[in-house]
Formats: sequence, C-alpha cells, structure tokens
Amino acid sequence: MSETSKRILLVIGGGIAAYKCLELIRRARDRGYRVRAVMTRAAAEFVTPLSVGALTGDRVFADLFSLDDEREIGHIRLSREADLIVVAPATADLLAKMAGGHADDLATAVLLATDKPVLVAPAMNPFMWRHPATRRNVAQLAADGIAIVGPNSGEMAERNEAGPGRMAEPHEILAAIEARLATTATHRMAKGPLAGRHVLITSGPTHEPIDPVRYIANRSSGKQGHAIAAAAAALGARVTLVSGPSAQPDPAGVDVIHVESARDMLAAVEASLPADCAVFAAAVADWRVANATDEKIKKDGKSRTPRLELVENPDILRTIANEPPGRRPPLVIGFAAETENVLEYARKKRKAKGCDWIVANDVSPETGIMGGDRNTVHLITETGVDSWPEMDKPAVARVLMERAASHLLTLTATT
Ligand code: C5P
Repeated sequence: MSETSKRILLVIGGGIAAYKCLELIRRARDRGYRVRAVMTRAAAEFVTPLSVGALTGDRVFADLFSLDDEREIGHIRLSREADLIVVAPATADLLAKMAGGHADDLATAVLLATDKPVLVAPAMNPFMWRHPATRRNVAQLAADGIAIVGPNSGEMAERNEAGPGRMAEPHEILAAIEARLATTATHRMAKGPLAGRHVLITSGPTHEPIDPVRYIANRSSGKQGHAIAAAAAALGARVTLVSGPSAQPDPAGVDVIHVESARDMLAAVEASLPADCAVFAAAVADWRVANATDEKIKKDGKSRTPRLELVENPDILRTIANEPPGRRPPLVIGFAAETENVLEYARKKRKAKGCDWIVANDVSPETGIMGGDRNTVHLITETGVDSWPEMDKPAVARVLMERAASHLLTLTATT
C-alpha cells in the first residue's frame, strides 16, 4: 500500500447522525483517502461495525482494553498513522470529554494522544447545543486549534424539535476535511514525485446527441479515471481532468473540464496540451449520430420510425499519441477494456494506437468491473506485461501514477 494518499481516522460518536458516516466514508474513499474508523460504544447502537468496516475496507477499532488491539495497533499508533482525525458525529458528551482531556475509552484516548489536526462535526439536540456547558466546550476546542464543521439548523429526529444541531452533510464534512488538510504544513511540504508535472486525464463516457433530448451513451462510471486524477494530484501533479457526463464528484485540487461528446472531449484535450503524461481512461463512444437533429424528433404516429445514421468519432488516444514530438506527451497511456483474449488484443492495441502503455482489463459482465469499485488490470509496456493483483480503483490509480512518476524520471534522466 502506498504512503501517498491521505489517511483519515474517523471517530464515530453515538448519535442518530452516525448513519451519515457511511456516506462520508464512501465519498472520502472515492476521493482517494484511506479511512480507518474508531467507534465509541454508543456509536455501535446506531451503526454496526460490520457496515463501517465493509466501507473502510479495514478493521474497525472499538475497545481501549482489547488485548488484540493493544498488541497489534494501540491508540498511539492509531492516532499517529493518520493525517487528520475527524469526529463525526461529535456528540455533546464527546465534545465535553475532548475539552476536558478525558481518555476513558479508545476514541477519547486517541484524541488525547494525537499530534495531528482534528476536525469535529457536532450533532445534538438544539437545547444541548445552546447549553452554556456546550458553548464553553466548543469555545475551548476552538481555542485548542480544533476545526469545527456545522452543525446545521433544521428538523431534529425528535418530533417538533428544530434549530441548530443537525450534523453537517457528508459533502460539507468532506469539503472541511480538504480545507483542513490543505492548510496543514505536512500537506504543503509533501510535494510528491509528480511535482512540477502536468498530467492530463480523460474519464467517463461520452454522450452523442440524437436530438436535443436524446443521446447514445455507455455504462462507464468514470470511477477509474477520476481516481487516477485524484492519485496524480496526491502525488503533487498539476492535473487536468477532461470528464464526460459522470456522477463522480470533481476530485479536489484538480482542474476539471466537463464535456458531453467525443468531439468536445478531443477539443478540450488538445487545448490542455502540453502535458508530461496523458491518460485516456474515458470510454469514448466509437460512433456519433450523423443525422442528429436540432429539434426533438416527434413520435406523431404519421412519420416513419427514424433511422439513425452513425459516423465514426475521432480516436482521441490515437490522435494525441501521434502528435509530433514536442506536442505529444512523453508518456501516453491508453486503456483496453476487452471481454476475451485480453492480453493479445491489448498488445495489438498498444501498437495500433501508438501509445506507450496500455492498461488492460477484462470487462466481461461477470467481472463486475464496469461501474464496480474493484479492478484487475494488466499493464502492457514496450518491455512486457505486468499483471497486478485485484485492487480497488483508487489503488490501481495510485500504483499507475507512481509507476508513471518513476518512468518520467527515467525519461528526464536520459534526455
Ligand atoms: O479502441 P478502443 O475504444 O478499445 O480503445 C480504448 C482506448 O482508446 C481507451 O484508452 C480510450 O480512452 C481511447 N479512445 C479514445 N477515443 C476514441 C476511442 C477510444 O481516446 N474515440
């Protein structure tokens, strides 16, 4: 596992808002963070360690006095092996313990032992939030340098209770996490092996219009391409992500250009050159509709069923890989999604497209790769094939970008 992606230790307190942590973990991992969770005893009344662990992909830590935990990884290590500690939901009780420096369970011990930045997302009943004791505790925590996100105002779980106390939404907590990390000295100083490089990435599907309301598309989710953009940024690169329509959030610290069609994607890629490395992870539609109309095609019962005429789209990877030296990025990486004879087709594709590397994967439906969270890939280079073990998409992205970083170094050394 690489040391480059940021590690979040999530302390889950016992409140009704604990269920939102599942969404927070999912979003944080989508952004390439590694998340480890510590749950208070009360938290386990609201969400199960099983579901938390399934999302973090790690064991969940709970008991300060568990012999196993202390032997394998104690509270000191837990707090040190994180770049940021996030407390969500931060209950009135947890805030009080933090303000008072208590350490009577694993969560509070971790919080007292840490030398890392801490962000809390309070969640409680409005009366508890407004109580002078909570006001004092929150003021103390702010004075101690602890960042606070929320709470928001609104309806409470209890009937007829409204006011400040609702935990901030997962996307708001994630934004606060990124802001907090961006201001830490360690983050600023960690320039990373892609510092000074420009990495250009395509991601997602393209939409090819039939008329103003209909289009041809494919099942690409954009997960892998977006993860590559996040990984490149985490390694210090300046990153341009040209994304087709995708439900994936824009990765933090990345310049994102949103496009619809293959032709728009090519134009955006051309406009973003020069780049040191270009990764073509988008599932570009091979054809577009030649006879697309400016008005919506009507189904009026009188006209005949429309016939779509298809014309081939530009091949973005091939176009960029065949640009003249100077304009062609020194490292051009394509993807090959195949359902049979994966390696053989991928080798041929590397030659045919003129790219340096091909990342090949088997996307036959039974693999669940298309739209899924995991990926098994083979990296085909000039010198051979590397088959990687099954990994989640952020991990594939990290390994690929680390490899790109060392390859660029060798290129610089030999030119
Ligand atoms: O030819 P095929 O679609 O299998 O090639 C896949 C690779 O080519 C991917 O890297 C994809 O992003 C890229 N590609 C492209 N423009 C196209 C078609 C594919 O950039 N029109």
